[in-house]
Amino acid sequence: MNNAELIKLALEAREKSYSPYSGFAVGAALLCKNGKVFTGCNIENSGYSATNCAERTAIFKAVSEGETEFEKIAVVGGNAEDKAPVDYCSPCGVCRQVMREFCDADFEILIAKGETDYKSVTLADLLPMSFDKRNF
Ligand code: THU
Repeated sequence: MNNAELIKLALEAREKSYSPYSGFAVGAALLCKNGKVFTGCNIENSGYSATNCAERTAIFKAVSEGETEFEKIAVVGGNAEDKAPVDYCSPCGVCRQVMREFCDADFEILIAKGETDYKSVTLADLLPMSFDKRNF
């Protein structure tokens, strides 16, 4: 699974976004160390705080299926009316912390606009001096 393929899966997952309140559609594709991929979209709720981001949907799907070893994640997001995102969508703080629960500092995050248009960053880049179970 190369980066373009993973981003393509994130773009396809974005099409499933349930985002009637924000109109902002996000998709994610999570690559496990064993090669399995779990996708996710954002799922909003009229009680806004019950909304789940695309990244957490993908991670929770994976964990609920017994997978906890992750290699990288691709994230795409933008106005739901746009077929393809016009800008990069960086993971929110809650998603970064959820990633930290399962991933090492070098976990790769592809923040993408298209299959070949992306920024590659690490979890350490996005969440420096993080609090996590390794400090207990
Ligand atoms: N959203 C995500 O799915 N992932 C992020 O990392 C940023 C925000 C969603 C949540 C909400 O449904 C919409 O984007 C607007 O915040």
